[in-house]
Amino acid sequence: MESKAQTRRQFCGRTCRIASVAALGGALATILESCGGNGLTSASGVNASALPTVSGTAANGTIVVTIDGGSPLAAVGGAALVRSSIGDALVARTGDSTFVALSSQCTHQACEITGWGASRFVCPCHGSTFDTSGRVMNGPAASPLRQYTAQLAGNTLTISA
Ligand code: FES
Repeated sequence: MESKAQTRRQFCGRTCRIASVAALGGALATILESCGGNGLTSASGVNASALPTVSGTAANGTIVVTIDGGSPLAAVGGAALVRSSIGDALVARTGDSTFVALSSQCTHQACEITGWGASRFVCPCHGSTFDTSGRVMNGPAASPLRQYTAQLAGNTLTISA
């Protein structure tokens, strides 16, 4: 028969193990939260967050985007994933009146590129990163992103293949 002291020690031992597992779980949750929730880190260590999305309108084979003051493309250095009924494009504002538009399809295994960090587009599938010209900065992708033409007139950006 077990003494009260032994039973108490066993209980404390079990409780401490449970508390340790709970603490570990809490710490892990804290670490995951501090990673930014939906953020991702590419193989190159670029901390990326989700690109803001902007709706574009298809018109005669082009994508037309209105850039107002609230647009993620309003300021130089901004970037967005433009969605439209004829396809999506990555867009970065590189100057007051200059933009770069790129295919949003990763050249590695065709995932849609949805991440952005350190002025690079980041693929969520295997972490390839591309600069705002579409050049591969980190693989596994080996080919650059296809560039489109992007022209600003007033506050209207027109993207064409
Ligand atoms: S599909 Fe983009 S890195 Fe693999």
